[in-house]
Amino acid sequence: MTKVIAINSSSRSDKKSKTKLMLNHLIKGMEKAGADVDLVNLRDKKIKYCAGCFSCWTKTPGKCVLKDDMTEEIFSQWKKADLAIYATPLFCHHMNALMSTFQERLLPSVLPFFEFDSDRTVHPERDKRPDFVWMSVCGFPDISEFETFSNYNKRSSNKKLIAEIYRAAAESMVDPKYKQTLQNILDATELAGIELIQSRKISQNTLITITQPLDDQKTIAQEVNMHWQEQISG
Ligand SMILES: Cc1cc2nc3c(=O)[nH]c(=O)nc-3n(C[C@H](O)[C@H](O)[C@H](O)COP(=O)(O)O)c2cc1C
Repeated sequence: MTKVIAINSSSRSDKKSKTKLMLNHLIKGMEKAGADVDLVNLRDKKIKYCAGCFSCWTKTPGKCVLKDDMTEEIFSQWKKADLAIYATPLFCHHMNALMSTFQERLLPSVLPFFEFDSDRTVHPERDKRPDFVWMSVCGFPDISEFETFSNYNKRSSNKKLIAEIYRAAAESMVDPKYKQTLQNILDATELAGIELIQSRKISQNTLITITQPLDDQKTIAQEVNMHWQEQISG
C-alpha cells in the first residue's frame, strides 16, 4: 500500500481555502486507489524557523535540535512516506511562508557533503526522501503566475518531483456561475489522485481539465473588481 503524507500550508479555514478544496479531492482519489494518506495542516502545528546551526549535520546527525512538532512528529512521518504532496497557496509567486518553513526544516534528511548529479552539485540523501507532487492555487487567472514557482520546483527536485498541479483563478472558481466547470476541475483532481497512485504520474488530459480557463481574463477581472468594491463598501 502506498503511504502518502499530504502537507497543507494554507492558513485559511477549510471553508475558505482553495488549496484545501483541491487537496481534499486529490486525497479522495488517492484513497480510492488504495493509498494510506496522512494529512498534516501546518497551521495547526508548532514549527520553528530553521536556526541555520547545522547541528543536524554534525552534533546530532539527522536530527534537528529544535523542540517542536516538526522534530517530534512530522519529520519522522514524512520520512516513512512513499509519496509527499506539498499543497500551498501561491504567495508572491512562490510557496507561502508556512510551507517554506516546513521545507527548510527538511535539512536533516540530507548529508552535508557535495556530490554531483550530471553537471549539478547536490547534497546526498541521508534518509530516503519521498517522491513528491507540488499543488498550488492562485488568485490571478493567468496560468503563467506559476512559472517562477514551477522553475524553482524543477530546479530543487533532484528527480523526485513526479507531478505539478496548478490552479489559477482559484478564488473565482467557486462563483456559482462556474458551478459546472468547478465540478469538472474537482472531478479531474480526484482522477489525478487515482492516476498518481496507479501510475506515479498524471495524464496530460487530466492536467488540461484541471488547468482549464474559467473565462477570459477581462471577465474575471470585472467580477473580481466588483467583488472587492462590494467588500470595501460594506
Ligand atoms: C500575501 C498574499 C500573496 C499573494 N500572492 C499572489 C500571487 O503572487 N499571485 C496570485 O495570483 N495570487 C496571489 N495571492 C492570492 C492567493 O494565491 C489566493 O487567494 C489563494 O486562493 C489562497 O489560497 P487559500 O485559499 O488556500 O488560502 C496572494 C495572496 C496573499 C494573501
